[in-house]
Amino acid sequence: MKVLVLNGPNLNLLGKREPEIYGHTTLADIESMVREKAKGMAVEVEFRQSNHEGELVGWVQSARDGFSAVLLNAGAYTHTSVALRDAIAASPVPTIEVHLSNIYAREEFRHKSLIAPVCKGQISGFGAHSYVLGLEAACNLNAR
Ligand code: DQA
Repeated sequence: MKVLVLNGPNLNLLGKREPEIYGHTTLADIESMVREKAKGMAVEVEFRQSNHEGELVGWVQSARDGFSAVLLNAGAYTHTSVALRDAIAASPVPTIEVHLSNIYAREEFRHKSLIAPVCKGQISGFGAHSYVLGLEAACNLNAR
């Protein structure tokens, strides 16, 4: 089983970006945590980040070639991107929405996720551990 982990805009800045909200963990640290967890579950992971909406759309589209699930932290595109939502809706591969912060405990504009209705489920608010929980959820989907 292969899981594609996609990270949207500004997540490359984790560790330096608003640490009071996102903590001091870097994206590389999160990748290591996810890889460690994946090893224990005999799952392969591919980890990518882009600040560009179109690139993320392309990756969601191509997930059908070899991936069983997508973990997606779409960053700010969560709240704005109809294009990403449409790509997820068109994909036969289940997508799990992941957020470090609890988007419902923050500004009102973050309470609305355009992608949530077309994702399998959402994990929000557990910091870096949200990704680990997301990987577990992805594996569980596959076991069903
Ligand atoms: C985020 C939440 C989004 O609202 C924000 O724009 C991000 C990060 C999170 O992981 O908590 O960039 O997706």
